[in-house]
Amino acid sequence: MSNSNRNKLSVEEVREHIPLTKKCIYVDNGSTTPVPIPVMEAMEKYFLEYCTNVGRGGYKLAEKATRTFDLARKNTAELLLNCKMEELIFTRNLTHASNIIAYALEHPSLDRVQGVFEYGKPLVEWEKDDKIITTVMEHHANLMPWIRLAKNLGIEVNIIEPTQDGILLPESFYEVVDDSTKFVAFQHVSNSMGTIHKVKEIIKVVKKKNPLALVYIDGSQGPGHLPVDVYDLGCDFYGFSGHKGPLGPPGTGGLFVKKDLLPNMAVMELGGGIVSDVTLNDWELQSDVLSKRFDAGTPNIVGLIGLGRAAKYVTHEIGLKAIEKREHLLTKRLLEGIQDINNIHLYIPQDSSYIGGTVTFNINGWTCTELSSILAKKWNILTRAGHHCTIPLMRFLNVLDEYGGHIRVTFHYFNTEEEVDKIIEAIKTLAKAKP
Ligand SMILES: Cc1ncc(COP(=O)(O)O)c(C=O)c1O
Repeated sequence: MSNSNRNKLSVEEVREHIPLTKKCIYVDNGSTTPVPIPVMEAMEKYFLEYCTNVGRGGYKLAEKATRTFDLARKNTAELLLNCKMEELIFTRNLTHASNIIAYALEHPSLDRVQGVFEYGKPLVEWEKDDKIITTVMEHHANLMPWIRLAKNLGIEVNIIEPTQDGILLPESFYEVVDDSTKFVAFQHVSNSMGTIHKVKEIIKVVKKKNPLALVYIDGSQGPGHLPVDVYDLGCDFYGFSGHKGPLGPPGTGGLFVKKDLLPNMAVMELGGGIVSDVTLNDWELQSDVLSKRFDAGTPNIVGLIGLGRAAKYVTHEIGLKAIEKREHLLTKRLLEGIQDINNIHLYIPQDSSYIGGTVTFNINGWTCTELSSILAKKWNILTRAGHHCTIPLMRFLNVLDEYGGHIRVTFHYFNTEEEVDKIIEAIKTLAKAKP
């Protein structure tokens, strides 16, 4: 074992930290992940020792809460996205991140600057022929906000189709992006086909065609499953869920916003904790850490402290490359075990370099919910079935009427080869049976 691996957690050690692994075969990690004990302990410590508000109190415990909360933002930003804490807005989830951007794309900022309360320069100066680009593969959280935005602005949304096996090609973006493209939104990793897209290449193409087009990446299934460097990708916005790959608690997530965009980004929610002054006519937003302007009201302090701890857990204690490698390995094993079943339909990229920790499929004669519920009842294998909040993609794959969507197995580091083998056996049995 190399030096760098010597102190990393083994699969068995991580399973010890996740009691749920003793009760079932949990392969619904694309939906949400169980929280490991060290993350729970950090949250418990907050409740037991310094359960106070952040950014407000002038006593030692409140200062500790603020310090720990700030550190959580720093760790989350640096470890999961490789960005600075000043560029990381804390969110409830990925959905919240998309809606924060949508608001800011529709509204100019409003603030008192050098004594004058006025609208700032809009993030985008929309014109009537402008367009937003997104793709058929997107989760509803990375589609509905743009449809509404376009409707409100009276502009078009152009939709890019993937290949039939779920790959977004850079050339498809090359064809549609032009001077009137002001905003492009697409995913890092597909929750419905498992594709890890060539995001950097696609962004390069978009920026080459139009350097002014702002690019948002939905990284809901990215950070925590694989290393992410938002500067290297070249995106303007990158959102993620804290409760999936990073093994953080539900109700947490983040949004990276490029530093030069933040001063002009309208805040969606107004209220306490984000201002340096308020009169009966105006306000002045706090101006040191710009990402904190998006923390109106008391934030999910304990959850986000948990997220900061989880960022350390997946990055330092397990290792992101080790997670990525292991998920790929488990997926490969599952595919080798089921791909030759003659009545199975797989919905994954043919080229294995695009594949991460997700496998989606159907079996002739079964609806996906029948399959998922029998896997749970008979083998204690917990999967997800349905449209996975990607109804347009389900229509594109033509799986809604016959199967009601498809069934999904999503791995994390703590899943084992033995679990994969049990899943293979169960699927083989079901493929021979009739519902
Ligand atoms: C690709 C993708 N985008 C967005 C979301 C929405 O994430 P959240 O539930 O954290 O808002 C999900 C959730 O499954 C997802 O997989």
